[in-house]
Amino acid sequence: MILNRKDVLGLEDLEAEEILSILDMSERFRAVFDRPVRGVPIMRGRTVVNLFHEPSTRTRISFELAEKRLSADIINFQAASSSLRKGETLRDTAENLQAMRIDMLVVRHASAGAAHYLARVLKCSVINAGDGAHEHPTQGLLDIMTMRQRLGDLRGKKVTIIGDIAHSRVARSNIWGLTKLGAEVTLCGPPTMVPGGIDRLGVTVEYDLRRAVAQADVLNVLRIQLERHESKSFPSNREYHKLFGITEDVVRGLKPEAFVMHPGPMNRDVEIASEVADGPRQVILDQVANGVAVRMALIYLLSGGDPGALAGGDAE
Ligand code: CP
Repeated sequence: MILNRKDVLGLEDLEAEEILSILDMSERFRAVFDRPVRGVPIMRGRTVVNLFHEPSTRTRISFELAEKRLSADIINFQAASSSLRKGETLRDTAENLQAMRIDMLVVRHASAGAAHYLARVLKCSVINAGDGAHEHPTQGLLDIMTMRQRLGDLRGKKVTIIGDIAHSRVARSNIWGLTKLGAEVTLCGPPTMVPGGIDRLGVTVEYDLRRAVAQADVLNVLRIQLERHESKSFPSNREYHKLFGITEDVVRGLKPEAFVMHPGPMNRDVEIASEVADGPRQVILDQVANGVAVRMALIYLLSGGDPGALAGGDAE
C-alpha cells in the first residue's frame, strides 16, 4: 500500500479510502511501537527536517520519535535561532533546505496555508503539523484511530466535539475525517466560539452541553486557543468551566461505554476538570501513543514505503 500523493496537508484533501489505509497502516506501526525493539530501517539514508515555527510538545516529539524509529536522518530546525529572525522569507529558507537535498519537511506554522505554500514551492514531501486555525491532519488521524480502536467502524457513531471550535485546527481535521468515515459529528460550545454556517460541513450544532453529552459515543474536548483570540470570547475561565467545562458531574451524563478525549495541551480546570483528565473515562495518553504510530505510517506511506519492510519484522 502506497499513498499516491506528494504531501499530506489536511484531511479535507484525503479520500475516505486513503484515511482508512493510513489508519490500517498505523495499527501495524502501533504493534511495532509496542515491541521491545521498536526500530525499523525503512527511512535509512533519507533526511527529514522538522520546521516548527510555533510551540509544540506532543507533535514535535512524536514526529521526531517516529522518524528515529524509521531510522531517518533528522534535522530539527529551530525557527527562533534561524535566519528567519534576520528577515529571510519562509520560501528562501525552504529553497535552501531543498538545495541541501532533504527528502521530507514537517512544518508547523501560525499562518493558515503555510504548509500548502511550501508544498507548492518544494519538490520534497511536506506534512502539515498544524497551520494556524486551519488543519492539524496528524492530530485528526490519531484522534480517529483512538476512536476506531474502541468503537470499530465509525459509520453512525456519535462524536461530540466540545469547546473552542472557531479557533481549532484539531476540530476542522476531526470534522473532515470523521464525516468522510460516516460518523455523526455534533459541535458544542459557547456561541462566540462556534463559527456561523459550520453546519455546511455536515455537522450538527448543539449549544446545550448536557444534550450534546448525553447522545455521544465519544467526547473530544478542545483546548481554548487563547493565543488566537483577538478579543475576549468569554468572561472568565471560571465562567467557562461552569458552563462548558467537562466535570465529573457532566461525565455522569455520558452513556456507560462513552469516553473522553483531549488533544492536549490541556487547560486543567478550564475546559476539562482534573478529575476527568486523570479519571477512568479518559483515553488521552492512548491518543499520544497512537500519534507516534500515525506519524510512522504517514512518513512510511509518503516515502513510497517498501511493502516488505514491515512484514519481515526487521527491527534493529
Ligand atoms: N496536540 C498538539 O498539537 O499538541 P502540541 O501543540 O504540544 O504539539
